[in-house]
Amino acid sequence: MKKALITGINGQDGSFLSEFLLEKGYEVCGTLKRNSVAENQSDRLDSVYGKVKLVYADMTDMSSLLFVLKDFQPDEIYNLAAQSHVRISFDQPIYTSQVVAIGTLNLLQAIRIVCPEAKLYQASSSEMFGNSIDSDGFQRESTPLTPVSPYGCAKVFAHNICKNYRESYGLYISNGILFNHESTRRGSNFVTGKVVKEAVRIKLGLTDQLELGNLEATRDWGHAKDYVKAMWLMLQQEEPIDMVCATGVSNSVRYLCEYTFSKLDLDYKDYIVVDERYLRPEELNNLKGDASKLRALGWEPSYTFETMIDEMIEFWLTKLKK
Ligand code: NAP
Ligand code: GDD
Repeated sequence: MKKALITGINGQDGSFLSEFLLEKGYEVCGTLKRNSVAENQSDRLDSVYGKVKLVYADMTDMSSLLFVLKDFQPDEIYNLAAQSHVRISFDQPIYTSQVVAIGTLNLLQAIRIVCPEAKLYQASSSEMFGNSIDSDGFQRESTPLTPVSPYGCAKVFAHNICKNYRESYGLYISNGILFNHESTRRGSNFVTGKVVKEAVRIKLGLTDQLELGNLEATRDWGHAKDYVKAMWLMLQQEEPIDMVCATGVSNSVRYLCEYTFSKLDLDYKDYIVVDERYLRPEELNNLKGDASKLRALGWEPSYTFETMIDEMIEFWLTKLKK
């Protein structure tokens, strides 16, 4: 039985990945960061509760990582823990860097000391590209990294230090450069979660307005369930490799609103208010990924943008009607 450690197991991706790995017969251990409301920590883990080992560890506390690795001795490590909100990284740049950049370095050092044979998946991000776009309109593995947020800068550090440790110490480390991915478990302060939940609340008469920031930004939105399969697939390769995971289809925030509200027989223009609070000091305008390398390994998304949003609408309708 292979053993997998997931940092940030109670995040959106950690919860789907733990389900996927359990189905594959893995023994799974996941790290939790302490939260004053215990219920918040297990919200996304209902289906795996009792089947995975849960331990407290914080990316900023290297000793906690050393203990987890020493105790569990994983074959595969998925480093998903992060302060993952781009807008909030402008409010908390130092904390974000400590978790995302130095936290990853803490983990690398701990791996070197305790389990250098383990394979590491690093959660890199399309936010690292900033506003770099290749001439055909796509971002891919070779596109320059020019981040435009503290979160993006910290992810670039983590990405590069992982490459450095791979080359310097022969560790098996793969960076997955994942574009935006969403689901019914997406935090409701990310734009898809926010738009769908609030549109449903408007439909049910619970509110009458939705404040948003930039409507013209475009994102390549896929489904988290499809993307955790890509994480696992990358670690099954003979040699470590860095790869983009994306759908290749890009839509604007405005289209997200138009589609979601129209599915509820509403006109988004009647409800959306642009509020400066949700604008960013610097914006990443357009993302569209070329995942040819990953597709060559057999990966492909099973959801379209529309089927994913439909699923999210159904979820919130059922939940909020209750
Ligand atoms: P998420 O839902 O925000 O989950 C992040 C996880 O990290 C949570 O379990 C969180 O715990 C934990 N965490 C936060 N700070 C920590 C700390 N100091 N020490 C230990 N754990 C900590 O993010 P996600 O959407 O699942 O994304 C997973 C990873 O992929 C992240 O690294 C993210 O940056 C990256 N990524 C995400 C996307 C995307 O579109 N979703 C795209 C590219 C890359 P709490 O919930 O208790 O805070
Ligand atoms: N969150 C949010 N809230 N975003 C808004 C809003 C709003 O009210 N209004 C407009 N937007 C725009 C943002 O300005 C951005 O252009 C776009 O919606 C997407 O924002 P988010 O959903 O917050 O995601 P993100 O692209 O900034 O970051 C996500 O994707 C990255 C990969 O590219 C996160 O999951 C990151 O962790 C991830 O690395």
